[in-house]
Amino acid sequence: MNTIKHGLAVLGLIAAPAFAANPVSIHIDAGKPGPVINKYVYGQFAEHLGTGVYEGMWVGPKSNIPNTRGWRNDVVGALKELHVPLVRWPGGCFADVYHWRDGIGPQDKRPSNVYGNHVEEINAVGTHEFFDLIEMMGADAYVNGNVGTGSVQEMSDWVEYMTSDGGSPLARLRAQNGREKPFKVAYFGVGNELWGCGGNMKPDYYANLYSNYEHFLRAPETSRPKMIASGGSGFDTTWTQVLSKELKGRTTGITVHQYTVPTGNWDVKGKDLGFKEGEWISTLANALKMDQLVKDHVAVLDKNDPEKKIGLMVDEWGTWYDEAGARSALFQQNSLRDALVAALNFHIFHEHAERVTLTTIAQMVNVLQAMILTDKEKMVLTPTYYAFQMYAPFQDARSLPLAIKDNTRYALGAVNIPGVSASAARAKDGKVYLALVNTDPNKAVDVAVDVDGTKVHGAAGKVLTSAAMDAHNTFQDPQVIKPAAFSVRAAGGRLSIKVPAKAIMVVALEE
Ligand code: AHR
Repeated sequence: MNTIKHGLAVLGLIAAPAFAANPVSIHIDAGKPGPVINKYVYGQFAEHLGTGVYEGMWVGPKSNIPNTRGWRNDVVGALKELHVPLVRWPGGCFADVYHWRDGIGPQDKRPSNVYGNHVEEINAVGTHEFFDLIEMMGADAYVNGNVGTGSVQEMSDWVEYMTSDGGSPLARLRAQNGREKPFKVAYFGVGNELWGCGGNMKPDYYANLYSNYEHFLRAPETSRPKMIASGGSGFDTTWTQVLSKELKGRTTGITVHQYTVPTGNWDVKGKDLGFKEGEWISTLANALKMDQLVKDHVAVLDKNDPEKKIGLMVDEWGTWYDEAGARSALFQQNSLRDALVAALNFHIFHEHAERVTLTTIAQMVNVLQAMILTDKEKMVLTPTYYAFQMYAPFQDARSLPLAIKDNTRYALGAVNIPGVSASAARAKDGKVYLALVNTDPNKAVDVAVDVDGTKVHGAAGKVLTSAAMDAHNTFQDPQVIKPAAFSVRAAGGRLSIKVPAKAIMVVALEE
């Protein structure tokens, strides 16, 4: 018997019909663990863009909104609970116009600048403030350096400023600015989208530049950040091809950016809310393209880097809708559909855990597919926040092979996608977790689960669904959609799970 607790939104789904004669079968092989799913796959991106940093997270120490040294307490608290493992900052395109020296020293003495074609940057949030934020959150840093309008010297100085453990003038300057101990920079990115906003370059030219920048970066041997080379976009593997050949031994990862646009057309992308079923299915179908994209890039890496020293890092992904009427740049609402997009991407990243060692969703607050939306003193958690929360046990878990038999198909018009997507792993707490997505917005699906190598007595966890495809939380009504408790008992070592229509579910198996 399946039990879903709480939530008027899911009541109708509890009364689903009896279990089907031919359920979708999922077989997990717990005896043959695969690669570890790097916790950094669950990374986030915070760019100085729109209200992503200023207003959304930073309100300044004098604000009436409760804050700690300028960072909103409500937002930091919610992010801390999400166990965000890594934050990429300060961009994005912003990284290639940002000059770090403007963001250190007394805040009232920092310049206010318009960098490139970006809006005014007040520089209240600089290096020290960023580290204050992530240290409060318990996250690691992925700092993105400036190639486009910076210099080798400027980047080298920044890394030295952050990481040097004393004895250098830059370490002394850091101490003078209030931080004796070095900052821990887990990853350092050399530029962003060099083929576009980062400088309209060709990959060979960037490969040379990267080597030059990387060569001069000064950091203590024991705390040298892992270096990331900025790669291409979408299915074009040219950048991965060139960089993986040219930068062997000099990089731990090559990035790729891939956004999910409902219509697939960047001129008319599709709306965040009030969409029809045609855009539900096309969005999910476009999200699923991540699998082929990863395969294409991994094939190139497998050829050029058979030792598997270079990770594929999807450091910008997520939904991107039309901006009409947005309260700030790239602000969009976030609905149940976004949660499914996130979950489908997680399954793809788990599947390629050996190569996909880091990803950062775009973005953390108020920009694109955000975890959190704010309006002055108000804050709401989005369905994407809940997806990340439900999947937290997959961070640093050991992936488990899983086979799906007799899967359903969900089709509308010419679009046809798998009905069920699933992923399993043994988490650090020792339990086996199973994640399920039902892409069909109209029909619940019966799933039979059996596990090789262990006897299952039941499963318990959370389900996220709602009556509307675009169910979302608003500042007026922030509890419209949130996860509900779910549990099921096994019979004969097999679990029979009814997954509601348009749902994601994560359960821990009771062995
Ligand atoms: O995430 C928003 C923008 O999208 C980033 O600044 C840029 O890298 C990408 O084009």
